[in-house]
Amino acid sequence: MATVTMEKLTKVYPNGQKVVHGLDLSIREGEFVVLVGPSGCGKTTTLRMVAGLEEISDGTLMIGDRVVNDLTARDRDIAMVFQNYALYPHMTVAQNIGFALTLRKKPKEEIAKSVANAAEVLGLFEQLEKKPGQLSGGQRQRVAMGRAIVRDPSVFLMDEPLSNLDANLRVKMRAEVSRVQRQLGVATLYVTHDQVEAMTMGDRVAVMHAGDLQQCADPQTVYSKPANLFVASFIGSPSMNIFEAGVAEDGTYFTLGGQRIEFDVNSNPNLARFRGKKVAVGFRPEHLNIASTSDAANCLKVEVDLVEALGSELLVYFRFNAKAIKVAGAVAEDEEVVDIEFGSSKGAGQGVGVARIAPNYNFHQGEKIELALNTQKILFFDIATGDAI
Ligand SMILES: Nc1ncnc2c1ncn2[C@@H]1O[C@H](COP(=O)(O)OP(=O)(O)OP(=O)(O)O)[C@@H](O)[C@H]1O
Ligand SMILES: [Mg+2]
Repeated sequence: MATVTMEKLTKVYPNGQKVVHGLDLSIREGEFVVLVGPSGCGKTTTLRMVAGLEEISDGTLMIGDRVVNDLTARDRDIAMVFQNYALYPHMTVAQNIGFALTLRKKPKEEIAKSVANAAEVLGLFEQLEKKPGQLSGGQRQRVAMGRAIVRDPSVFLMDEPLSNLDANLRVKMRAEVSRVQRQLGVATLYVTHDQVEAMTMGDRVAVMHAGDLQQCADPQTVYSKPANLFVASFIGSPSMNIFEAGVAEDGTYFTLGGQRIEFDVNSNPNLARFRGKKVAVGFRPEHLNIASTSDAANCLKVEVDLVEALGSELLVYFRFNAKAIKVAGAVAEDEEVVDIEFGSSKGAGQGVGVARIAPNYNFHQGEKIELALNTQKILFFDIATGDAI
């Protein structure tokens, strides 16, 4: 059992590229921390610095209360599970799992016992005598985890271990990895670019972007109180609706694409200094609903663009005359992205949003509808800095 503490952890590659900028992040005893962010943001680099596979350019790394910057990978008592886990095809599952112990010349009985323990935790008992070629993708991934488990490390590091699995299996294995981690109670740093994986697996989620930690908190906090526009856009699927809005001078409403939404600015003390100014407002798809007349004060008139019927709900994509703000790198690749430069009017896309509503409605493209906004859930962001207000 151990903790991991990164203080101002920095990586500059020999070619001068600075990819991790003074990361402060800690993992408590037994905690499952997921490091998530878009491709290229520095996740693997961070993990490799913790593992001792990549030199730390600056900052301090502690395991327990020991500074380990200069310890070799072997001496850090860490086990890693990668995306590309190569199992030895000619060895049985038991031999694959026990391989690290065999290398260390541990006694046979001890190896057998450790392998049996790992197999028990992973539900691999029946497979121990099989060769990797006879296993399913999920079973192979379990064997790879087994190899990490038998080493009885004080820290687990996992780099996208599920990304080679098909979608269904990935969902099953998420739960499996979480269960195993909880059972073993070993501090774990898990890297993924998949925000759903991050939200479902982590005790805490650390969101990284372009080498900087954006926010680290429990999944619910990251979802409902994102620290800035990047986190707001990156976490959640479909992404949060974010538009430019104007806060009224008198503090009783804001305007969104020329439409007036009643809102008491005093309900958020930090918003007072934005009276008469432009801000970004964000609201999740589930915070919109079909309006009844009583909703007039918080109603948005929009035009239906596309409806996705998902059985349990409808995703209603709509447009209206407001400037949408999309943060580059934070939304799904197939979404239209406008590069945002905070502080400039660049980054304003078309006013396209999405509502998640009950399936008992029938809409057609081009239909004009009114959506009621749950004003208690609205988030405000400073357009100049991107920070939550
Ligand atoms: N050995 C290296 N030398 C120079 N630059 C590197 C090296 N390894 C990685 N980089 C760069 O560092 C940045 C971060 O890479 P890293 O692999 O840490 O990203 P990542 O967040 O793990 O991305 P992905 O989700 O695609 O795995 C990238 O711009 C990458 O090109
Ligand atoms: Mg990576």
